Amino acid sequence: MTDTRIARLHGRRVWDSRGRPTVEVEARLAGGAVGRAIAPAGASTGQGEALDLRDGGTRFGGFDVHRAVGSVNQEIAPALIGRDAADQAAVDRLLVHLDGTADRSRLGGNAIVAASMAVLHATAAAADKPLWLHLAGDRPVRIPLPEIQIFGGGAHADRRVDVQDFMVVCPAARSFAEALDWTAEIYRAAGSLMRKAGKAQGVADEGGFWPAFDSNEEALETLTLAIGTAGFASPAQVGISLDVAASQFGSAGRYTLALDDRTLDTAGLIDMLGGWIEQYPILSVEDPVGEDDHEGMREFTRRYGRRCQVIGDDYLVTNAKRVEAAATAGATNAVLVKPNQAGTVTESFQALRAGQEAGFGTIVSARSGETEDVTIAHLSVGWDAGQLKVGSFTRSERMAKWNEVLRIEEALGGSAEFSGWSAFPFATP
Ligand code: PGA
Ligand code: ZN
Repeated sequence: MTDTRIARLHGRRVWDSRGRPTVEVEARLAGGAVGRAIAPAGASTGQGEALDLRDGGTRFGGFDVHRAVGSVNQEIAPALIGRDAADQAAVDRLLVHLDGTADRSRLGGNAIVAASMAVLHATAAAADKPLWLHLAGDRPVRIPLPEIQIFGGGAHADRRVDVQDFMVVCPAARSFAEALDWTAEIYRAAGSLMRKAGKAQGVADEGGFWPAFDSNEEALETLTLAIGTAGFASPAQVGISLDVAASQFGSAGRYTLALDDRTLDTAGLIDMLGGWIEQYPILSVEDPVGEDDHEGMREFTRRYGRRCQVIGDDYLVTNAKRVEAAATAGATNAVLVKPNQAGTVTESFQALRAGQEAGFGTIVSARSGETEDVTIAHLSVGWDAGQLKVGSFTRSERMAKWNEVLRIEEALGGSAEFSGWSAFPFATP
């Protein structure tokens, strides 16, 4: 390992997949190693998330990041220069301390997460190792099961349908490469079905087909049909994963499904989702009720957690304490891990570890606003998360992550173990 003291940290403004400015950070270490990372951005954010610092005003809809880039160059860089990049926990503690707010709003979650990840990349480069291997060390790791969006919805498709993500998982595939092959066929089949029905209207924010459906359930019917048309048995080979993102259309006790013209209480929403679980090959459900609906989360998990993965995203916001509380309460059985939701690499890892210790499913996840940055692909393997959620099977900010995992799987060769069914926190075939 070359000298890992931080010699230079540089923030710059680049652009994300929605055409919005975002923060990139480049870290250079004394021994010459360089690391670089870009902050992603969510659209359907949870209330407890680290907050991005945006310039406001009218320019670029208020989304500009000159202030966040300024945080990197004027405050974070002077504070980190001379520190040891190899001590990621100390670097991240310093970032949190320097910001001083609970929600990272002073320096900006975008500035902090890009700095934290850039330092991590630089340390891996100093060790001359790919990031996933630097993270894994001697521990065995699995190649993650991909969760891949076929139809976008919710906040990512102007609320055209209420449910946010209609995804597939291929746990019976023998490798990550084969899971992608299967998904590509299903994505094609779904596209053909949409064209035949006169419903082909382009794609949503994460590259899934635009959901030109007359009801939320029609999306489920079409997806189930697409899996069958592509030649796969469901759920024996391929299952459905839903991100309900319920906080986007209601909160504890009152949910309005605009497309279905229905308002439901918590029990009604759980019954409706339960009906879907009975009828369609659903293996995973994310945020089934609102982020403030603790009783609803417990009830949903009590009823369906033995046959279905129940993921907390907005509900857990990549927070280790919330994961521990959810495990104690039986409120979820899986945690979504989004580095920019937590703020730093170390906090993200702590949330994931809390999930692993509780026997949860753990899913490293992208955001709806993404870039060519592939850090999460490495985190998902290096931390042995078992699952990776990136969005759809089109558009290069998504494909960059899938392709990176293909490279890692190839590098592991015969020793690569695909997580498949083992990714799930319930008894599987
Ligand atoms: P977001 O959505 O990145 O827009 O928050 C992703 C998700 O809810 O999983
Ligand atoms: Zn979500």
